[in-house]
Amino acid sequence: SLVSLKPILDAAVQYGYGQGAFNVNAVAQAKAVIEVHEMFRAPAVLQGADLANGFMGGCVDFTKATLEDKKRGAKRIADAVRKYGENASIPVVLHLDHGRDFDSCKAAIDGGYTSVMIDGSSLPFEENVELTREVVKYAHERGVSVEGELGVLAGVEDHVFAADSTYTNPLKAVEFFKKTQVDALAISYGTMHGASKGKNVKLRRQIPIAIRECMAHEGITGGLVSHGSSTVPAYIVKEINTLGGDIQNAYGISIEELREAISCGINKINVDTDIRLAVTRNLKELFCGRPQLRESASVGDVYRLLEANKDKFDPRVFLPPLMDTVMFGEVKDEDTQAVMECV
Ligand code: G3H
Ligand code: 13P
Ligand code: NA
Ligand code: ZN
Repeated sequence: SLVSLKPILDAAVQYGYGQGAFNVNAVAQAKAVIEVHEMFRAPAVLQGADLANGFMGGCVDFTKATLEDKKRGAKRIADAVRKYGENASIPVVLHLDHGRDFDSCKAAIDGGYTSVMIDGSSLPFEENVELTREVVKYAHERGVSVEGELGVLAGVEDHVFAADSTYTNPLKAVEFFKKTQVDALAISYGTMHGASKGKNVKLRRQIPIAIRECMAHEGITGGLVSHGSSTVPAYIVKEINTLGGDIQNAYGISIEELREAISCGINKINVDTDIRLAVTRNLKELFCGRPQLRESASVGDVYRLLEANKDKFDPRVFLPPLMDTVMFGEVKDEDTQAVMECV
């Protein structure tokens, strides 16, 4: 069944485990994520980022997605997740990741998302509160949960020079929960988005510990979210590079650090980069193993985009020639079938 994030995170908070949350950029990925979670008998949290909705709405250059694209994409992925999720043996959440404004959140909610993130972390505190409250009002009236963000994620390298002020201030976190009534809060404590997190990143465990202590003092039980938590498996990066890729300085957060973070009060672990890396590896392997595909009328352009973007690992850069398949999950022929199996 489709549920909001709230009951899923309530359980994670109560029993002290971390709930994985995985980003998808195609209908086929949503299906795969649900199937894998069913295998492990765990609740599934699927995330479509704001721009992912634009891509799934058919915007070939996803960086230029319009509100109309996002509306189309949100409805498309929500319809698919409802179809797969309704018959699943596990609860399924469809969560908007990094909603940038009220309209993006509204598009997701109206399209059928059961949870949204409003990311006002780049705004001054009071403006972030105001924007988040507006989204909470619209969402909660419709049974949809909300994640907010406080603090700015940055590279560990940046922190050598930058003040610790970009980390989440525990007292402000409590004030934010109280003023906005969010169900979950993304915090900054040393993680970073993308594949260049730096070698041997040590997370600032004191931050979630302090936030949890301040929350407990006020009787607040909301979830704490760890963004930028991909582990960036070295073997996948190596395979990509062996297959002609050029991805340098790729390091993630170690599983040990994530485990530690969970024991310090983190409840939701966001992963996107690892999936993108895996899809990129799979695509390269496919074209390497079946060179005749490079000339295929339906998927040859995917190969040429892979070759032209050796340092990239965002499948949305490679998949636009297969937009119809990505959008509708329907395969045209054997070759598109082979590519979609990589996704
Ligand atoms: O956390 C951020 C996501 O990994 C970024 O996704 O490229 O769809 O905005 P996006
Ligand atoms: P990664 O880039 O580490 O996968 O982080 C994903 C994320 O935070 C999605 O919101
Ligand atoms: Na942010
Ligand atoms: Zn994130």
